[in-house]
Amino acid sequence: MLHGWQGENPKKPGAPHNVRLYSIASTRYGDFFDGKTASLCVRRAVYYDPETGKEDPSKNGICSNFLCNSKPGDKIQITGPSGKIMLLPEDDPNATHIMIATGTGVAPFRGYLRRMFMESVPAYKFGGLAWLFLGVANTDSLLYDDEFSKYLKDYPDNFRYNRALSREQKNKSGGKMYVQDKIEEYSDEIFKLLDNGAHIYFCGLKGMMPGIQDTLKKVAEQRGESWEEKLSQLKKNKQWHVEVY
Ligand code: FDA
Ligand code: A2P
Repeated sequence: MLHGWQGENPKKPGAPHNVRLYSIASTRYGDFFDGKTASLCVRRAVYYDPETGKEDPSKNGICSNFLCNSKPGDKIQITGPSGKIMLLPEDDPNATHIMIATGTGVAPFRGYLRRMFMESVPAYKFGGLAWLFLGVANTDSLLYDDEFSKYLKDYPDNFRYNRALSREQKNKSGGKMYVQDKIEEYSDEIFKLLDNGAHIYFCGLKGMMPGIQDTLKKVAEQRGESWEEKLSQLKKNKQWHVEVY
């Protein structure tokens, strides 16, 4: 995760803005494999007045708009990285990694998948299974879809990719298709993989977690298992990784 800021803090004259957090969407080698770049996947925070429905630019997000408006060559202050929860465990190159993302939450997984399928590093030859569930509004808002589709074509035995397009697809109750609906659809396989030691990661909207927990609890109960016990075991085994915001 990186922190980026720019300008003066309105509440503390002379001090920079408070840091904003962004997940890193590349590996330590960067996108050009020379270790000189880091990628972010930034969503512009735009404010709409709840009463008029109109955009109010005075309340738009400071850092995200600064980053989205920046041009090649602009100087940006960053610090980090920090936090270890989303570091890809590389001790077992044949492990299973189930990744659940909404929107920009795909960032860390984009980095993992580059390490697994794009980079050639002697210490890590991935031979396991990476399974990405990505939730976005529609086809136009898919992120890194070309990269992921290429991995699917080149590594069909090691990569699975499921998309939940909330405003284009319906779930089985006729509501929006969310990542938790996809998890439910594949719950048998997911539970078996978790029982065999798979890592599961969640990154993106905080709001997805209650829905996901409800889905997993429902599935566990259908299987005659206690979700509370299973979850505490997953946490104890360091299989459960969450970074939501
Ligand atoms: P700013 O902090 O200025 O404003 C915050 C929100 O408040 C904005 O939505 C803004 O419109 C609204 N606002 C401003 N003034 C207001 C007012 N007067 N009244 C009401 N509302 C007002 N994001 C991302 O795009 N990619 C990523 O990879 C990540 N990763 C990530 C990891 C972790 C661990 C965390 C905690 C968070 C992220 N985020 C993220 C979220 C990101 O940090 C967040 O969107 C930015 O901090 C927003 O910063 P801004 O400076 O743009 O908004
Ligand atoms: P929607 O906005 O159609 O309700 P965002 O672009 O805001 O980061 O959102 C990414 C995706 O996550 C969108 O498809 C959005 O759907 C979806 N989403 C919003 N709320 C939830 C939730 N509670 N659980 C799962 N997905 C959600």
